[in-house]
Amino acid sequence: MLRFETAGESHGECLVATLTGLPAGVPVILSAVDHELWRRQQGYGRGGRMKIETDTAELVTGVRHSQTTGAPIAVIIRNRDWKNWTEVLPVESYEGDEAKKKPLTRPRPGHADLAGAIKYGYHDARYILERASARETTARVAAGALAKQYLAQFGIEVLSHVIQTGTARLERPVEWDEIVALSKKTDVLMGCVDEEAEARMKAVVDEAYRTGDTVGGVFEVRAHGLPVGLGSHIAWDTRLDGRLAQAILSIQAVKGVEIGEAEEAATVFGSKVQDTIHYDKAAARFHRGANKAGGLEGGITNGQELVVRGLLKPISTLRKPLESVDLETREPASAAYERSDVCVVPAAGVVGEAMVALVLAQAMIDKFGGDSLKEARRNYDGYIQQVKEF
Ligand SMILES: Cc1cc2nc3c(=O)[nH]c(=O)nc-3n(C[C@H](O)[C@H](O)[C@H](O)COP(=O)(O)O)c2cc1C
Repeated sequence: MLRFETAGESHGECLVATLTGLPAGVPVILSAVDHELWRRQQGYGRGGRMKIETDTAELVTGVRHSQTTGAPIAVIIRNRDWKNWTEVLPVESYEGDEAKKKPLTRPRPGHADLAGAIKYGYHDARYILERASARETTARVAAGALAKQYLAQFGIEVLSHVIQTGTARLERPVEWDEIVALSKKTDVLMGCVDEEAEARMKAVVDEAYRTGDTVGGVFEVRAHGLPVGLGSHIAWDTRLDGRLAQAILSIQAVKGVEIGEAEEAATVFGSKVQDTIHYDKAAARFHRGANKAGGLEGGITNGQELVVRGLLKPISTLRKPLESVDLETREPASAAYERSDVCVVPAAGVVGEAMVALVLAQAMIDKFGGDSLKEARRNYDGYIQQVKEF
């Protein structure tokens, strides 16, 4: 079983991820983890914080001589901004000025601030927002980068691209190779494969900047090279679509998830939706008329590309703040403003990749097990042979 956890606060000393259950012998390239962290920090519409941080991963356990040992892996990503927050968030109590704690008493609508403050009994929502913040996704991306390196051993790749920002949407099919080419660019801005659509998306973000507003959108994660048969129809919690949905919806600001062409499928007749089945006798293999199901049927991978989308609401912290109430005085007040992003759809796509990679690595390990990569590969190869002989 593959398990992962994260710890850490937005302005605390560091973010931490642990990953337990990767087999021994998986090659690990540290610079590839850092590259994923860099990708998460990019995108048109990011705020000042990302200019302060240059995230790098410290792999402190579970990897020796560039290979996993089978032991739990721990990764640390330090917050550069921590030096400015040592008096706000010290581990030990201090008798200093209360104002130095930067209390947040004007909760921001759309954040965990108010519900969390009531639930945990704080009149200072700082304690809530520090953990609710999407800075936590740094740790997810580090863990996901390791899951990606495990998946790569089986020829599986996971990438994302942006298909919508506000009302600007990419309205054409996208080939896998286009997404691969996009992932190699170092100047990716909106993360869209199409120049014309990218320009429309940037214009929407510019408008949000101008008006002190924020904007959401849709990212699409694809997984390429999956075998048939990950996940299972036999129980609600073994269905891969359900597991992916939870993983994607757990990303901050993601409010909807779509597998394949779900939205369109809900509006047209069945004859236009299902992926017809064909058989190529010369190649002795099944193939499909389309991939509207997004690579999953009955919660099982069907050998087509996996397509999962995340729908993001606009960022909740607005430069032109929304109405709120002060937790101390109970008087109307403008919601607090902290340095904030205006649009995070490309970055959320990178986080989506990490979450999908972790769920797929879990499904691979459920199916092929193995204390070592060698054992996992033997099980995998035997299964692939069985599929060929079907
Ligand atoms: C990559 C990423 C960056 C984010 N950056 C910000 C930000 O700068 N300001 C903000 O208010 N919300 C930001 N968010 C969204 C909030 O973290 C999120 O809306 C909040 O924690 C409440 O959770 P919920 O929207 O899932 O209910 C970001 C989300 C993601 C995925």
